[in-house]
Amino acid sequence: MQIIKDKLIVALDVDTLTRAERFVDILYPQVKLFKVGSQLFTAHGPEAIKMIGARGGRVFLDLKLYDIPNTVKNAVYTGVSQQPVFMMTVHTEGGIEMMRHASEGAAQKAAELKIERPFIVGVTVLTSAHNTAATLGEVVKMALAAKDAGLDGVVCSVHEAAEVRKNCGKDFIIVTPGIRPQGVESFDQKRVATAQDAMQAGANFIVVGRPILEANDPLAVAEELLSSCRA
Ligand code: C5P
Repeated sequence: MQIIKDKLIVALDVDTLTRAERFVDILYPQVKLFKVGSQLFTAHGPEAIKMIGARGGRVFLDLKLYDIPNTVKNAVYTGVSQQPVFMMTVHTEGGIEMMRHASEGAAQKAAELKIERPFIVGVTVLTSAHNTAATLGEVVKMALAAKDAGLDGVVCSVHEAAEVRKNCGKDFIIVTPGIRPQGVESFDQKRVATAQDAMQAGANFIVVGRPILEANDPLAVAEELLSSCRA
């Protein structure tokens, strides 16, 4: 099992390799974990992952895979060889069988390459969805299914993190996006909270994009978030 002490993952939601490089150069080494999601991956996937690795960072490959079990297994299997990916996402809505295949694909490829297996985490209810009376229960149900299927953890909002921790145990990974420093715009995110709230609720990682990418001083915002994670 990988041990990662860093808490902040910066989402490199940009469309060119040059912009991604610029942010890594500004933020590393204070920030060591970077998310490559569908936008950057569609433009420059493997190159972006290599660029981050060459600078010393590690990658959260957030493709939110959702397909037939065999296709997801093969995509995860291939993703594991894109080093240095330390964590990948699949959708919990893809079902137990799909999640099981994802977990098997990761284990198989990591064993072949003799590397540590990246964490595979399940996306639950997106943080851009409004909170309803059913959200908490739905997220906990999805998290328990993910655990049953052998996933390492889930992505959820800070609002559900404590309940997921209670139900899924201390070793289950909780990744929380929708993080907004006090007074910063929410954009399309609905279930938002601060980094401190995330830590108090038991999150292992926070994922932050626009509050850093759109700041006049991205490093200053990242440093503030890092110190909130330590507080
Ligand atoms: O810009 P912002 O801080 O809202 O970015 C949050 C990041 O976290 C985005 O890259 C988004 O894809 C990701 N994410 C999310 N909600 C999830 C899973 C991932 O916002 N449930």
